[in-house]
Amino acid sequence: MKAVILAGGTGTRLRPLTKLLNKHLLPVGKLPMICYGLGSLQAAGISDILLVTDRKALGDFASFLGSGRDYGVSLTYRVQEEAGGIAQALELARPFVGEDGKFVVLLGDNLFEESLKPHLDAFRSQPAGAMVLLKQVPDPERYGVPVFDGEGRIVHIDEKPAAPLTDSCVTGIYMYDGTVFDIIAAQSPSQRGELEITDVNNAYAAKGKLEYRHLSGWWADAGTFRSLLEATRKLMGDLP
Ligand code: G1P
Repeated sequence: MKAVILAGGTGTRLRPLTKLLNKHLLPVGKLPMICYGLGSLQAAGISDILLVTDRKALGDFASFLGSGRDYGVSLTYRVQEEAGGIAQALELARPFVGEDGKFVVLLGDNLFEESLKPHLDAFRSQPAGAMVLLKQVPDPERYGVPVFDGEGRIVHIDEKPAAPLTDSCVTGIYMYDGTVFDIIAAQSPSQRGELEITDVNNAYAAKGKLEYRHLSGWWADAGTFRSLLEATRKLMGDLP
């Protein structure tokens, strides 16, 4: 299975640091943020990875990561010319994924403690559709929040709801079958002018094809100063 890491965006919540450096190259402990996602995928047995970023940051990523050889992966790069949303960035992966069918998408600011392998294996056994990984959090209103039916299936995801219906959120790892690109092609921009990943997931949910699993380990979306600090504390490793 191939993977796509989305590492673009303007990183507004981390300004002014992100005026200088792409968010995913900011340090978390001893390493730039991007290394954790690459490491998680590599440890789960995925080595063929597309990195999507913006024009300004491409050179930094290429000079830091190169072909991916030092990280045990093979990297391909694509440029998202204008910030148009996560789903628009994902659309750029169509030629990379080709006819391979299932693949995994990781938001580069999402850091996972546990192995992703069991989750990827579960998705491999799923006949079709998509899978998301959920995590219980104290502040679900910051994220996409699933709405379940009586049988525990996700019927809808509310994006950053003012009054969340559960304390679980959708984390930034998504597993899709090849139909995702037709779903994106049929999408319209949201009110903020972006193609939203939650709309993509809701298209699967509407067809009863959005499966989920729960993350048990620590997880962070390191896109704010507070979560970046928490992630840094957690991932300081053996620093004195
Ligand atoms: C995005 C998604 C959201 C998800 C989150 C996970 O939000 O839109 O549904 O819960 O990633 O990190 P963003 O962090 O781009 O605001």
